[in-house]
Amino acid sequence: MNVTFSLNGETVHVPASPPDRTLLAWLRETRGLTGTKEGCNEGDCGSCTVLVSDAEGCRALNACILFLPQLDGCALRTVEGIAGPDGTLHPVQAEMIAHHGAQCGFCTPGFVVSMARSHLLGRHDHDDMLAGNLCRCTGYAPIIRAAEAAASQPVPAWMQESPPAAAPDAPATSGASGASGAAPVHRPTDLDAFAAWYADHPGATLVAGATDVGLWVTKGLRDLGEMVFLGKIAALRAVRQEEGRLWIGAGTRLSRLRELMADRHPAFAELIRRYGSEQVRGAATIGGNIANGSPIADGSPALIALGATLHLRRGAARRQMPLEAFFLEYGRQDRAPGEFVEAVSIPDQPDELSCYKLSKRFDQDISAVCGCFSIGIEAGIVRRARIAFGGMAGTPRRAATLEAALIGRALDEGTLGACRDWLAEDFTPLSDMRASAGYRLDAAAGMLRRLAAERGGRAVSVLKVAP
Ligand SMILES: Cc1cc2nc3c(=O)[nH]c(=O)nc-3n(C[C@H](O)[C@H](O)[C@H](O)COP(=O)(O)OP(=O)(O)OC[C@H]3O[C@@H](n4cnc5c(N)ncnc54)[C@H](O)[C@@H]3O)c2cc1C
Ligand code: FES
Ligand code: FES
Repeated sequence: MNVTFSLNGETVHVPASPPDRTLLAWLRETRGLTGTKEGCNEGDCGSCTVLVSDAEGCRALNACILFLPQLDGCALRTVEGIAGPDGTLHPVQAEMIAHHGAQCGFCTPGFVVSMARSHLLGRHDHDDMLAGNLCRCTGYAPIIRAAEAAASQPVPAWMQESPPAAAPDAPATSGASGASGAAPVHRPTDLDAFAAWYADHPGATLVAGATDVGLWVTKGLRDLGEMVFLGKIAALRAVRQEEGRLWIGAGTRLSRLRELMADRHPAFAELIRRYGSEQVRGAATIGGNIANGSPIADGSPALIALGATLHLRRGAARRQMPLEAFFLEYGRQDRAPGEFVEAVSIPDQPDELSCYKLSKRFDQDISAVCGCFSIGIEAGIVRRARIAFGGMAGTPRRAATLEAALIGRALDEGTLGACRDWLAEDFTPLSDMRASAGYRLDAAAGMLRRLAAERGGRAVSVLKVAP
């Protein structure tokens, strides 16, 4: 498959590369661009961060879990392209030197690329923007000081560029081939044509953001067979308001979902702020997050609490179901061969949502327990309750006993004291490396206490110590 993109301002055509070749491997092994580092090779450390721009803007992505075909038609900038063509340092590079922002320097290229993006976009939330970049020796204070010092300086001219046109041979749905001897690869643009094709080729591997699938290759060393890249199907990213619902296409990235939820359901937006990192949210899609069926995925509990509907499609046939019905048991979802997630939709409603993500580390960590509560309280009494948890069972699941028990009660000490028992009727959690079963039950019940404190007007933040 030919892939065309611009690399640090130069248009490149990559002919017949294996579709599961990562950008990181290609940059380092084929182009000799070794400034982009390999640390974890699983999206966790940010040492491989690159900038990818297209019509939807400029994203920082992890090159280690980005397949080459995902770049088609984009403008790519690596750390080698952050300084000017004549060697003039970018302001973030000059300030990293001035503020002693590097010691061993291994993480520095990734930081510089993420900082250059913040600088380009005029973003000042450096803690969030750099949460996906890990440094083991310098400490973050000098790096943040460098980002702050660069912020007021103008964006260099070489940082503004438009993506090139996509490769002229980009196929609609079929007839594509991989490298010689490799399985065929597809990069459809038309949703209907893709739906018809996939119904006939149910064994193909769907790739959306590749934040899960990428690890199947880099860590699982799996052969993915025939691959279909969904990123060029604009209709899968459609977001629209219709008939009292918000329709969110499966290809909607988490970064976009966070923007969509900011005014509607701020607690969901805040939950997404802690979903992976800027690099992960810029790639991961809500369709991939649901379809993978993970019991610890963060999107599903919030969506279930909001009463979301899942929209599935196989060829021209469509069906829908409450999102919670999709998860049958661990590793098994109600999805037929050749069927895919087209969208999820959320009914319009007053915002009564609270979301709590509990993980060992605040940033960039998978949840031990994720609790989402849409609870309506009138005159001190719970009148409505939809509650869903991740991390408490083999699937994201509603807490039916707890929901029923809360209706008609005040969130007083008696009610809060009984929550753990109700939760124990709903869930038999696992003990694993993230948390024991008992801790999970305690923590889930503790979330109700936090909700009661917040709804009672007490500001509760896990980042602040209150008297
Ligand atoms: C460093 C890191 C941090 C992470 N942090 C979090 C986190 O905090 N919270 C969290 O919930 N997850 C997290 N994840 C997991 C991952 O980001 C999510 O599961 C993500 O949403 C997957 O979306 P994707 O678009 O990347 O899917 P992909 O990796 O492309 O695909 C995932 C699965 O879904 C299938 N698929 C994709 N799209 C469709 C579709 N439309 N229809 C049917 N099947 C489809 C694929 O075939 C595959 O089986 C993290 C991952 C990494 C690497
Ligand atoms: S090498 Fe660690 S995120 Fe890519
Ligand atoms: S300077 Fe050594 S890891 Fe950051």
